[in-house]
Amino acid sequence: MILILDFGGQYNQLIARRVRENNVYCEVHTALSFDKIRALNPEGIILTGGPQSVYEKDSLLPPIEIFKLGVPILGICYGAQAMTKILGGSVKPAEVSEYGKTEIELVGASKLFAGVEKKSVAWMSHTDRIFSAPENFSVTVKTKNCPVAAMENPAQNFYAVQFHPEVVHTVEGKKIFSNFVDICGCKRDWKMSSFVVDTIAKLKKKIGGGKVLCALSGGVDSSVAAVLLSKAVGKNLTCVFVDHGLLRKNEAAEVEAVFKNFDLNFIKVDASERFLEKLRGVVEPERKRKIIGEEFIRVFEEVSKKIGAVDFLVQGTIYPDVIESGLGKSAVIKSHHNVGGLPDFVDFKEIVEPLRLLFKDEVRQAGRELGLPENLVSRQPFPGPGLGIRIIGEVTAEKIKIVQEADAIYREEIFKAGVDKNLAQYFAALTNMRSVGVMGDGRTYDNAIALRAVLTSDFMTAEPAQIPWEVLSVVANRIVNEVHGVNRVLYDCTSKPPATIEFE
Ligand code: XMP
Repeated sequence: MILILDFGGQYNQLIARRVRENNVYCEVHTALSFDKIRALNPEGIILTGGPQSVYEKDSLLPPIEIFKLGVPILGICYGAQAMTKILGGSVKPAEVSEYGKTEIELVGASKLFAGVEKKSVAWMSHTDRIFSAPENFSVTVKTKNCPVAAMENPAQNFYAVQFHPEVVHTVEGKKIFSNFVDICGCKRDWKMSSFVVDTIAKLKKKIGGGKVLCALSGGVDSSVAAVLLSKAVGKNLTCVFVDHGLLRKNEAAEVEAVFKNFDLNFIKVDASERFLEKLRGVVEPERKRKIIGEEFIRVFEEVSKKIGAVDFLVQGTIYPDVIESGLGKSAVIKSHHNVGGLPDFVDFKEIVEPLRLLFKDEVRQAGRELGLPENLVSRQPFPGPGLGIRIIGEVTAEKIKIVQEADAIYREEIFKAGVDKNLAQYFAALTNMRSVGVMGDGRTYDNAIALRAVLTSDFMTAEPAQIPWEVLSVVANRIVNEVHGVNRVLYDCTSKPPATIEFE
């Protein structure tokens, strides 16, 4: 196990993702005492980036004793600076702060950079920098503006990098993590097949003959969680599927059809009117999210009252939710409604979160291991607030219809053209913009639909996909012809960061 000590940086869960890619288990923790760290018995420690400056008075630093544990330590960005400060080097504001893709150059031999090109591109995001390395450290990488972009003490296996190897823009990043895992001597035996078998056995043992309730969204996470539970307890599991009316076209029926085939009780509730009512006049994205999340819980509450007392409540929480919601220091970019609002009204004894330790692609892998159909397992993620956050501004029934129809056309054409396989997420959104057009002989003043398609495996960073022009023009043509109220189609070619994947 590799322990990741989190100092609140935006990319921190990516670090865990990169470690897991090497079939090595890791955990992310914030502000752990040395005793707790020692009890976890990590084979290596990674100190993450963070928004603070190590020379601030109350800056969060790792316990000094970790440097005496005898395990390899890798400091990244703020983590590198924290290591520098603790071990006696110096950190100061950089003359030129670096942000974005930056050329790095190896200037010394290093196990951490084994097989890495002498010159490559890395992602930088810092205002402080290491000015002088601690004793017994040598500099291994420099950039134009950062003479100590990486340093190490190979005898003690202490490594520090100013750049972010976890971010996809760092070309050699994966190699760096793979090398670190080898330096730690990890066995690379964290496999999904054993995870599934172990989890079902654990759930059986824990739940016994108890009753279980699951809120099913039809998305990958809650579906995989539900199937894990159904394999463990069969009909003692009841799944409640709330249709908030913000689902994609035909989605509610599709979800129902899939779950009819599983050994569980399935209850579907159509609550679209209620959600629309609550959302009337609301334009602020975070308020929309909160309203949808809260209303979801209210509906669920009513259904669960009818079901009566249960022993366990299932949550499809996955590891990124755990990490994102567990931190005090990272800035809140968006609140994800499937965490946070626990339904405390439901009469249950305990929450079960069978996917709590998995990243999204690991959840899909678990789904495959469970024998779920590929179309469900590889389903693109769909946010809890649904189309509510793909309609910029106020949500109305008319706008939902527009975005549903446009999105269905987009997905159909993308699938037909066979380009869907490479895309992590693709959808249509309704902009809050109306513009002038001409149709037949008349002037129109109608809505603009935005199309988005991104490439990513972790959803923390993403690149816009290059959809073939022929496909886009068919989609645009069909949308303006077939969807009433749309006279313009735009394609979003922004990466994340600085944009996000969703529009709100
Ligand atoms: P962003 O827009 O933050 O999206 O780049 C990253 C991933 O998260 C999904 N997303 C959400 N999921 N509730 C959810 O359950 C939300 O409020 C929410 N907002 C974004 C988004 O679809 C993408 O996969």
